[in-house]
Amino acid sequence: MIYLKNPQQLDDMRKSGALLYEVLCRLKEAVKPGVSTAALDVYAEQLIRKHKAIPSFLHYEGYPASLCVSINEQVVHGIPSESVVIRDGDVVSIDCGLILDGWQADSAFTIGVGQVAHEHRKLIDVTEECFFRGVRQAVNGNHLGDIGHAIQTYAESFGYGVIRALTGHGIGRNMHEDPSVPNFGVPGHGVKLRPGMTLAIEPMIALGDYHVSQLEDGWTVVTDDGSVCSHYEHTIAINENGLPELLTYPGYALTEESRA
Ligand code: MF3
Ligand code: CO
Repeated sequence: MIYLKNPQQLDDMRKSGALLYEVLCRLKEAVKPGVSTAALDVYAEQLIRKHKAIPSFLHYEGYPASLCVSINEQVVHGIPSESVVIRDGDVVSIDCGLILDGWQADSAFTIGVGQVAHEHRKLIDVTEECFFRGVRQAVNGNHLGDIGHAIQTYAESFGYGVIRALTGHGIGRNMHEDPSVPNFGVPGHGVKLRPGMTLAIEPMIALGDYHVSQLEDGWTVVTDDGSVCSHYEHTIAINENGLPELLTYPGYALTEESRA
C-alpha cells in the first residue's frame, strides 16, 4: 500500500531531509585516508542525535550501526569497523538515514578518495547522472518504469551493470514503504506516479556485471566479479506541483522549464 503525503506531511519530510543533507555534508568532509569507518559511524550518530533525531539504520533488523560504509567492490550495507580504514584511491559509499519527528530520510553518496582511477571517477559521475535522469522522470502521470528505464539505459550505455537484487523504495513514517523502485524498467509500465508520493531513488551501478552476493556478516553486499560499484540516493517527493523535489538535497527542485 502506497501512502501519499499531504502538504503538511511533505513539509515535515522536508525538515528531516534537510537535516540528513547537513549530516551527509559533514560526513563527506570527514572521509579521508586513515579514517576508520567506525569513526565515521560515531560521528554520524553524534550529528544526528545532536539535532534530536534518531539514526534509523541502528538496530534496523539487527543492523549494528548508524551508517553503511561500502568500499570498492562492496555495493551497499558495509558495516563500519575499527579495522576498516579508508585508503587513498578507495571508492567509498556512505549511506545514512534518520528519523525527525517521526519522518524518515534516507540518502547516500559515493566519493573517490585522493588519487582515484579515471574509470572509477567516471563510474561515480555516471551513477549520479543516472539518479538525476531517473528523477526527471518522477513527475505526475509518469510510471515507475520510466524512472528505472532512464537509469538503466544511461548506465548500460557505458557497459556498466545495473544491480537488480536491490532497489529503491517508498519512504515516509517507515524507511521502506511501497512501492519498490527498481533501477531498471520498461517505459509506461508499473505504478502511476502521483503528487504526495515520496520515494528513495538509489541507483547502484557496477563497473562490471550486476550479480551480487551477501557476505557472511549477514549484511555486506559485494559484486560477484569483484568490480567496483557506486551508489547514489536521495529521498524525493513528487510535490504539490506534480514535480520531483529532492528532500535530502534542499534547493534542488525541478521546474517545468528545467525539465526540457
Ligand atoms: N539505506 C538502505 C536502504 O535504502 C537501508 C540500510 S539497511 C540498514 O534500504 F539496515 F542499514 F538500515
Ligand atoms: Co534507501
